[in-house]
Amino acid sequence: MQRRLALPICVAMFFGSAAIAEELDVVTENCNSCHGDNGVSQWSDVPTIAGIDAFVHAEALYTYRDEARPCAESKYRQGDTDRPPTRMCDIASELSDDAIEALAEHYAALPFRAARQDFDAALAAVGKEIHDRDCARCHSDGGSNPDDEAGILAGQWMDYLRLAFAEYASGDREQLEKMQEKMAPLSAADVEALLHYYASQQ
Ligand code: HEC
Ligand code: HEC
Repeated sequence: MQRRLALPICVAMFFGSAAIAEELDVVTENCNSCHGDNGVSQWSDVPTIAGIDAFVHAEALYTYRDEARPCAESKYRQGDTDRPPTRMCDIASELSDDAIEALAEHYAALPFRAARQDFDAALAAVGKEIHDRDCARCHSDGGSNPDDEAGILAGQWMDYLRLAFAEYASGDREQLEKMQEKMAPLSAADVEALLHYYASQQ
């Protein structure tokens, strides 16, 4: 299948310096068919990856490559949407360390754009209090600061974050012990309030 061949070939060419920029274009075009132009997603179940700190981004790709994080099958959202659905774990399995580092740097340099999405203002106010009490230490500026090396929560898509919370709660996605201490006591209502707080930051 052409798709499965194309990615390893262009990734191998990361080692040939002249072609780096061009080949990065080919790989990012594949990423952007799900994550949106310049890594800004228009689909609520696909996270925006623009502006995420490079270390965090690379760690996510290594974790997918190790199949150590859940990765559901996803369909392509734009470009050739007839391509068969695939999983982040399969995508990452075709990436070399050099390709992962280059991709992480590429997306870290692009501007994050908050998703335009509905939220409930009263819930968001409750969520802000929970965030300030339990999360702000590591997720500063409302969860918008990439320099925390803790991802970007503010303005991320609510459906994607809802999935992330569920994966942490089930233990399927590994998390820092110090984060788990704060996450574990949260009720379903607390989580919903946090989701509306992050969505409210547009
Ligand atoms: C077929 C669609 C699809 C393609 C192609 C795709 N992704 Fe993803 N990606 C997703 C979905 C859906 C999620 C969230 C759900 C999950 O974890 O599986 C995700 C999650 C991620 C995450 C985790 C974000 C976070 O905040 O933890 C990163 C990083 C990522 N993708 C980077 C990439 C890169 C880089 C490429 C190209 C090499 C790529 N993706 C290609 C659909 C896709
Ligand atoms: C001790 C520091 C720390 C605390 C406290 C903490 N986090 Fe995190 N959080 C992190 C780090 C580091 C990451 C990135 C690593 C990862 O993806 O697991 C992260 C990732 C996340 C993600 C995944 C983002 C994504 O893009 O997939 C969510 C959601 C999240 N945190 C929510 C919370 C909430 C809500 C709280 C408070 C109840 C909290 N965190 C408290 C350090 C922390």
